[in-house]
Amino acid sequence: MHSLPHTYLLVSMVGIAIWVHEREGKSVGYFGGRVVAVTGAGAGIGRELAVHLARAGARLALPDLDESAVAETVDLCGAASGSVFAAAVDVSDRDAVLEHAAEVGDRFGRVDAVFNNAGILFAGDVLDSEFADIERVMSVDFWGVVYGTKAFLPYVMRADRGHVVNTSSAFGLMAAPGYSAYNAAKFAVRGFTESLRQEMQVGGHPVKVTCVVPGGVRTSIARRAGHAVGVDGDEVARSFEERIARTDPGEAARVILRGVERGKARVLVGTDARVVDVVTRVLGPAYQRLCRRRCVSRNDGFTHSLGDCSPVNLFAPGKPTRTPLAAGSTGRGAAAARCPWPRAASCQLAATRGSLWSSLFLSLERRSVGSQGFS
Ligand SMILES: NC(=O)c1ccc[n+]([C@@H]2O[C@H](COP(=O)([O-])OP(=O)(O)OC[C@H]3O[C@@H](n4cnc5c(N)ncnc54)[C@H](O)[C@@H]3O)[C@@H](O)[C@H]2O)c1
Repeated sequence: MHSLPHTYLLVSMVGIAIWVHEREGKSVGYFGGRVVAVTGAGAGIGRELAVHLARAGARLALPDLDESAVAETVDLCGAASGSVFAAAVDVSDRDAVLEHAAEVGDRFGRVDAVFNNAGILFAGDVLDSEFADIERVMSVDFWGVVYGTKAFLPYVMRADRGHVVNTSSAFGLMAAPGYSAYNAAKFAVRGFTESLRQEMQVGGHPVKVTCVVPGGVRTSIARRAGHAVGVDGDEVARSFEERIARTDPGEAARVILRGVERGKARVLVGTDARVVDVVTRVLGPAYQRLCRRRCVSRNDGFTHSLGDCSPVNLFAPGKPTRTPLAAGSTGRGAAAARCPWPRAASCQLAATRGSLWSSLFLSLERRSVGSQGFS
């Protein structure tokens, strides 16, 4: 016979096991038997979404630019043959996306959800970026989402529980110098998605629309990023990996799927995204002073270091110092040098406020940092 403490222990362990099972299983169980399209499933967050959805018994359409990468994802899904349809599709090619959606509809007979996740990063000042650079970012990150939404929406609207899930970014809540193209696309995705959500509600359509807002997630996005002439791409990637990419992509997928199942309007992924959300609400446009000052003071001019200019590290402690500008410095550095002292005082005030945020943020952050590699 068990003694009383043993009984308590046994009951607690069963309780914990049920809680873990519920936590892991609930969000994915929801998608069992559903047909779900995930763009950009060849790597990173998209790959993890596909793997989690496959485990839940969803049937999948996985369009990605990189055919061999998405074939690897299919292997990782380990799903029954016929239940995953991978295809080489460029989401910025409208006709290709429309054709793919029709093919998915024909093959599976329905589509319950689309995750417009594919995206690219680009680093470069407005002054130094070519039109083609900015257009490429907009065509993948914004138009790719528009095409995916419009191509799949007629199918999703016929589902009993339809979902459109569009990926923006913490850079869709706040802008940073050197990332205007990416900021523009991600702000646009958020606006497009929030409007669509309301349209579905006003029209009485059974479609839940969710905007995903990740902070830094440990993927290869910065390694693949494009950059303007003069920007050190390796430094952008190194800074991202060492100082920004905190959330594991598997955890990101779990958070996203839980939020989608609950029909949330916005899913913030990671402590950093939650901090950015609060800070931009509290400071309003004043967050820009903090951002500008941090970038200039930490970088002796500006190096497009995501580490300093990201939503994550803007609020990290460290006293900004006024750095003399090298001869021939351009753009942002020169603007900072012209910053008169009364304005500098208010910048300092903003930075102090930032330090308060950072204390709170860093203590939360330390608990949430994982140690897994990139995917
Ligand atoms: N990783 C982060 O820290 C982070 C933060 C905020 C937002 N996001 C957003 O999350 C989404 C996923 O990012 P990730 O980090 O997993 O990126 P990733 O680079 O790891 O994976 C992106 C995938 O999209 C595919 N892709 C790129 N261009 C495409 C195109 N034109 N057509 C079809 N597929 C294309 C790539 O082949 C790749 O498989 C993106 O929209 C990104 O902007 C990522």
